[in-house]
Amino acid sequence: MKKPVIAIDGYSSTGKSSISKVIADQLGLIHMDTGALYRGITWYALQHCRNENGEINLKALFSSLDQIKLEFKNEEDTLVLFLNNTDISKEIRTHEVSDNVSVVAKQKEVRDFLLQSQRSLAEKGGVIMDGRDIGTVVLPNADYKFFLTASIDERTNRRFLELKGMGIDADKEQVKQNLIDRDKIDSEREIAPLKQAEDAIVIDNSELTKEETIKLMLSYIRKI
Ligand code: DC
Repeated sequence: MKKPVIAIDGYSSTGKSSISKVIADQLGLIHMDTGALYRGITWYALQHCRNENGEINLKALFSSLDQIKLEFKNEEDTLVLFLNNTDISKEIRTHEVSDNVSVVAKQKEVRDFLLQSQRSLAEKGGVIMDGRDIGTVVLPNADYKFFLTASIDERTNRRFLELKGMGIDADKEQVKQNLIDRDKIDSEREIAPLKQAEDAIVIDNSELTKEETIKLMLSYIRKI
């Protein structure tokens, strides 16, 4: 039997990636955290494509895209992102990347560059992919689509704790503002904006633990 293709979209810090990872393990699926890919490109741009003011030079980035190789490897049960064979899992979570990623992610050149690899991964089935445009653009024919949301304060808390857990200093107000700014840019951009697919199951997990959210999602997957 062909394994399912599952799309998970939603707002920043609703737990999409960590939830997807658990569901992938339970159902024997490959997990792709597409936000990490956009973060990886942003990290590359911050290292190699800045103008004299220190800002990202988008033109330089576009002409360097063919030099970027992003790969996920499963190491000790965690998904590790490599950029040109260097582990950048921690670097992509820094404030500088979070502050710049939405502007990089709204560029057509960047989205086109990542689209094909995301789609080809899902061709054989057995994939759970999380992001902002998976159910609407990348995998519109996914077998299951979920859209996760939660209150801004709850999401701020989760992101704050995640950063602390990674040893990254964080200020709660700054974390909250970054989430608000990113959601706004991600939702208002022209290409593949963050939005709920019409046929997605919407889950507000403000009051749910990670385990409860997973249980609920699995109950839908098993029922349909
Ligand atoms: O999931 P995340 O917070 O790590 O994603 C980082 C950014 O990448 C997010 O603010 C918007 C962008 N992104 C996107 O535009 N499309 C996706 N499919 C996934 C992420």
